[in-house]
Amino acid sequence: MTSPLIERAEQRDYQKLFIQDLNWSKPDHPPVTVEHEGRSVTATNVSSYKGLRVWVADEKPDSKLEAALDQHLAKSSTDRILIFHDDTEQVWRWPVRRAVGNTTTTRLSRHRHRNGDTDPHFAEKLDVIRLPFDTLLDSNAVLAKVRQAFDVEAHNETKHASKLMARLYSAMEKAYPAATPRADRDHEISVTLARILFLMFGDDTDMWDPHLFSDFIRDHTQPDGSDIGAQLTALFDYLDTPDDQRGTPRPGLEGFRYVNGRIFTERVTLPVLNAEFRTAVLEACDRDWASISPAIFGSMFQSVRDAETRRQLGEHYTSEENILKTLNPLFLDELRAELEHIRTLGKYEADRLRKLRDKLGRIRYMDPACGCGNFIIVAYRELRDLELAIMERLQEITGDNPMLLANVGLKVTLDHFYGIEIDEWPARIAETAMFLVDRQCDLKLTAALGYAPDRLPIQEQATIVVGNALRTDWTLVCPPSEDTIVAGNPPFLGHVSRSAQQSEELRDLWRRDDIGRLDYATGWYAQALQYFSVHNGKWAFVSTNSIVQGEPVAPLFQQVFQRGWRIRFAHRTFPWESEAVGAATVHCVILGFDRSDSPPPRLFDYVGRDAVPQEVHVTRINAYLTDSPNVLVEQRRSRLSSQLSTVSFGSRPNDGGNFVVGPEQYEIVAADPIARKYLRRFIGSKELLHNVDRWCLWLVDASETDLIQSPVLRERVGGCRQHRLASKRPATREWAQWPSLFDFNSQPTKPYLCIPGVVSEHRPFFIASRFEPDVIASNAVFTTVDPDGFQFAIVSSSMFLTWQLTIGGRLESRPRFSNTIVWNNLPLPPVEAELRQRIIAAGRAVEGARAQRPDRSLAQHYVANAMTPELIEAHANLDVLVDRALGSTAPCETERERQQVLFARYDELTAGLLGAPRRGRRNR
Ligand SMILES: C[S@@+](CC[C@H](N)C(=O)[O-])C[C@H]1O[C@@H](n2cnc3c(N)ncnc32)[C@H](O)[C@@H]1O
Repeated sequence: MTSPLIERAEQRDYQKLFIQDLNWSKPDHPPVTVEHEGRSVTATNVSSYKGLRVWVADEKPDSKLEAALDQHLAKSSTDRILIFHDDTEQVWRWPVRRAVGNTTTTRLSRHRHRNGDTDPHFAEKLDVIRLPFDTLLDSNAVLAKVRQAFDVEAHNETKHASKLMARLYSAMEKAYPAATPRADRDHEISVTLARILFLMFGDDTDMWDPHLFSDFIRDHTQPDGSDIGAQLTALFDYLDTPDDQRGTPRPGLEGFRYVNGRIFTERVTLPVLNAEFRTAVLEACDRDWASISPAIFGSMFQSVRDAETRRQLGEHYTSEENILKTLNPLFLDELRAELEHIRTLGKYEADRLRKLRDKLGRIRYMDPACGCGNFIIVAYRELRDLELAIMERLQEITGDNPMLLANVGLKVTLDHFYGIEIDEWPARIAETAMFLVDRQCDLKLTAALGYAPDRLPIQEQATIVVGNALRTDWTLVCPPSEDTIVAGNPPFLGHVSRSAQQSEELRDLWRRDDIGRLDYATGWYAQALQYFSVHNGKWAFVSTNSIVQGEPVAPLFQQVFQRGWRIRFAHRTFPWESEAVGAATVHCVILGFDRSDSPPPRLFDYVGRDAVPQEVHVTRINAYLTDSPNVLVEQRRSRLSSQLSTVSFGSRPNDGGNFVVGPEQYEIVAADPIARKYLRRFIGSKELLHNVDRWCLWLVDASETDLIQSPVLRERVGGCRQHRLASKRPATREWAQWPSLFDFNSQPTKPYLCIPGVVSEHRPFFIASRFEPDVIASNAVFTTVDPDGFQFAIVSSSMFLTWQLTIGGRLESRPRFSNTIVWNNLPLPPVEAELRQRIIAAGRAVEGARAQRPDRSLAQHYVANAMTPELIEAHANLDVLVDRALGSTAPCETERERQQVLFARYDELTAGLLGAPRRGRRNR
């Protein structure tokens, strides 16, 4: 059933609709007529409310005339609704604002309603802007309602568009015979959908008469969709044929222009399609594609491709928000600031504006893992917006003819943009999308200056190279210069998931055999260093946060810093969000580099889980993304701090499970009086954290007689021998000679501290516990002698957790303890005797607080927000003392403060300032 509000709108009695049904007020402005290029259009003010005006034009003019009218109306009412209509449809337009840096840009959003459609979205919108008849609202409240109705539409467009494309994709997929090779099918669907997108944009962006493509589908294909494949094929051919070779067009093709470029060149034979596909195309045509950002194409196509293909190629599409987090601090903010500054220069302004425009024209931008081109698209759009702002200002102050300005030629052009992508289909989408964003920028140019270049047939295109970016010489794709910018989001493939071939690529690029834990994405860093070996460009990559944690940091950043690059800006770890359905969950950082001292570096921090970046003031950024000396922490065989004792791996049974006794076997083993003598508690990470019972047979002191006389020991020791003999490792086979012993025994002979190898990233502290030497520590944990509890206190402090999280590695996302990286490098300076005693006592208080709840395992004790008040207090007291021991003058409040203290001590200790030998590398 059609809503009464829609019925009224369809009667085109807008005055009644607004005044009677929606409770707005009477009009307060006479009609306005605007002329442009010999044509005119009149708009009538039908209703108003506190400065907001509703205007109606009884026609649908072309975009230039429409823009001229809107510009005129904008002078008297910033916020306005402008309705154009003819007999069949009405188009409601509303300026949507978007904050970019310190400025706000405005673009017209539109809702198109075809008469006769039930169109629930339209009914909802009208309902939202209905005002209460008995209360007077202030202008802000009314504005908020109108924005709620119309701005929301702009935000939701992306999602709707993704869904429509997914529908088209699956409708096409079903039409292919099962025998079609999948790669061929995917390729053809991708090519076709890219073309359909282009055509829908064409309908909405004045490439030809409005609705030409949708009318072609509606009027020149059968309702059952049986000939739509053939008709589309004919249309694609026609679009690829130059005017002088066209002959007489088939019915429906008149009006389509020659496109050129590669978009329609490849011959694709479409399968027999159906009504479902045809309906999906027509519904997609009904959207307003002019205002949909082509940057979403990546996520659009991600939604329809299966997760496995996506993982193989490391595709995790970047939202526009994250792209701007990369591009703004890398170069856009600086350009915008320059524009703002120029505006204050008085008589020099025009000259400097022209120079800034020339500078924009020299910029070259390359994304070497460009996917569907979203980074290049956004970079292009933002630079075009800047150029437009300059042109508008020039027109304002010089009165220069905008036609002339535009005729001089735009400085920011598609051929300044480059991409490399290994997968062919997204590369194709990227090429098409660049053309579409160009079109959108031209519409803005028309709206602002009343003129835009005619782009058909296509003359200029972005260069998208299909190939492996790690085997491609980037200088051949885009020759580097001081004005070249490289930025993108290379694939997220950790050292575990990279293939043998990808490892080989990394070895070649880093020119080393040992690439250890280097992420595949570091290959892009190596390429960027090579690419910019001579030139001082700027570059930035989104990467998983593994590149700023643990072992990979030193080998990667040594290379970066040695070549004179600094971190120009960084976004610290934030959770990755993608607009696509089924998006991967990862944690990312964004790092940008230049070889300059200015502007000052910028650091963006994320506090809490809401992922909102906060810019913090810094003077430098080191490889761990803290405002600290530029140290690189490497593996170290001995401890940097004289206060710490040696940490070793626990003991390794290598027994095929024969020494290990679980709860279900305990009774049987303990029933053997000889075996029982040798049963010991056996601790790994799980036992430590979750109080799980486990034992082992610890036969270090077992006599030959016991080993022979006990049936249990005979069987288990025999089993261990067999297990070792069957091993492929010669060293293990050799250990078969001593089948009653663990093959690595590091069991402490004094009370010791047991440190788990891995803990959950959600623990508020790194959890460790002390044991007597008769409890055997497995090789899943680390141990260090700790007779007085000092080591326990240190590991239990927030300072230690901060160090672990900052420089330690991870197993997936869980912090992974390491003696060589984390412990041996912990920069604890000499601690005075009295402070040491107080730290030990504070550590005991932590143990005491744990003991007050013997029913809780350590895992239960250390649940964030569920710790007992006693335990929280004990840790807080301990933290104050350990902060002081590390040299902090006041208790640290945040992780960043602790990081600064830790790196300052590390810098001093490794420089030998605090009595320790000079070790580790420093880059300044
Ligand atoms: C994380 S996605 C980023 C895509 C796009 N820029 C975005 O942000 O949505 C990484 C892209 O790199 C591509 N890729 C993977 N390995 C590549 C290689 N060796 N050379 C070039 N591109 C590669 C993938 O196909 C994928 O499109």
